[in-house]
Amino acid sequence: SGFVTLDSGYKNTGATKSAITFLDGEEGVLKYRGYAIEELAEKSTFLEVAYLLIYGDLPSQTQLDAFQADISKHTLVHEDMKKFFDGFPSKSHPMGQLSSLICSLSAFYPESLNSRQTAEEQNQTIIKLLAKMTTVVSWIYKKSLGHPVIYPQNNLGYVSNFLNMTFGQRTEDVEIDPVFVSAMNVLFILHADHEQNCSTSTVRMVGSSECNLYASISAGISALWGPLHGGANQAVIEMLEQIKNDGGDTDKWINKAKDKNDPFRLMGFGHRVYKNFDPRAKIIKKACDDVLDKLGIDDPVLDIAKKLEAAALSDPYFVERKLYPNVDFYSGIIYRALGFPTDMFTVLFALGRLPGWIGQWKEMRENKEPIGRPRQIYIGETLRDYVELKDRK
Ligand code: CMC
Repeated sequence: SGFVTLDSGYKNTGATKSAITFLDGEEGVLKYRGYAIEELAEKSTFLEVAYLLIYGDLPSQTQLDAFQADISKHTLVHEDMKKFFDGFPSKSHPMGQLSSLICSLSAFYPESLNSRQTAEEQNQTIIKLLAKMTTVVSWIYKKSLGHPVIYPQNNLGYVSNFLNMTFGQRTEDVEIDPVFVSAMNVLFILHADHEQNCSTSTVRMVGSSECNLYASISAGISALWGPLHGGANQAVIEMLEQIKNDGGDTDKWINKAKDKNDPFRLMGFGHRVYKNFDPRAKIIKKACDDVLDKLGIDDPVLDIAKKLEAAALSDPYFVERKLYPNVDFYSGIIYRALGFPTDMFTVLFALGRLPGWIGQWKEMRENKEPIGRPRQIYIGETLRDYVELKDRK
């Protein structure tokens, strides 16, 4: 038909049917494949949740062991990829590097380009991505320091191996603080999927042209980078530091956020779907207190965050608009306590979101969804008389 319904930002348009993640924004409910996020964060490892999102069920011990072993076989990245790491200026943003490096996997593993892969071939493409992503992320960090890279240790679990490659000094270092491991497991689980958000929709949109998995995920990483999406976790810490350095007057910054002539927004506040609270923020707030407590860290930025949260939650502007702290409000404080530099925060979000993106890409393929192609309402010129170049003013 000639009629097009306009829904800018897709606020009320369903783009797909999905059996992966359930989200109720009014009630603050989030479930992966029917399991409550609170329970998964408390009882599961990130790898179990990755399996759940990608394959549909929590793994048995045998399935989990096989999944872990399969991933361990592929954690090395091609040595030629090191030339890319060397080529980036040391100050280049890790998200730009990550997006490029993940896309380049399609060059190293060209079998991924076949859009008619069998289920087993497709699974190997998926496993390689899960395995190599941690190595790539750790090496981006090592290169930013000018340090030698640490090779993967295949006897370590997924999260421990990542932390060892990131914070270890030698490949054989295996002393990973269990506080770090459990905090990272929780953070990754909370970020692992969030139905049709901007980056996930991007992955599905790019994949709908039958583009390969690596390029589709690379596009998702780019979408995540923006400060209104995953980039918010970096923006939150930068904002809290700015407030602290400015004397810590939170009321002044609340007023700036309310001022419609001021572009400043309270980063880490508000959500397109959650209108009562973000269930992930509740879990993260507690994890944040635990980590700082266990590591004996007294971070003045946390005090600013708590003051800001309390002030906003009792302010009619935020109450009327149903603006609550979102997942990114506290995650940066934990990442900081663990020793990650600010520009790595969004990369950590990407690492956590990877199984969700993969699961959604796989579901879209399995359901044989059509190519994504929104329509528009044209508001440009109608027919104009053509003017020759020499006659144009
Ligand atoms: N500070 C001040 N005012 C805000 C904020 C904020 N953080 N968020 C929304 N508003 C106001 C907005 O100005 C508008 O007011 P009015 O109706 O008077 O024009 C009203 O609230 C509705 O906002 P909206 O921009 O129409 O809502 P949206 O659903 O398009 O945007 C959002 C959602 C998350 C982009 C937005 O709340 C925001 O920019 N938040 C800050 C960035 C952030 O924390 N992003 C992370 C989101 S959660 C993790 C993730 O997705 O990656």
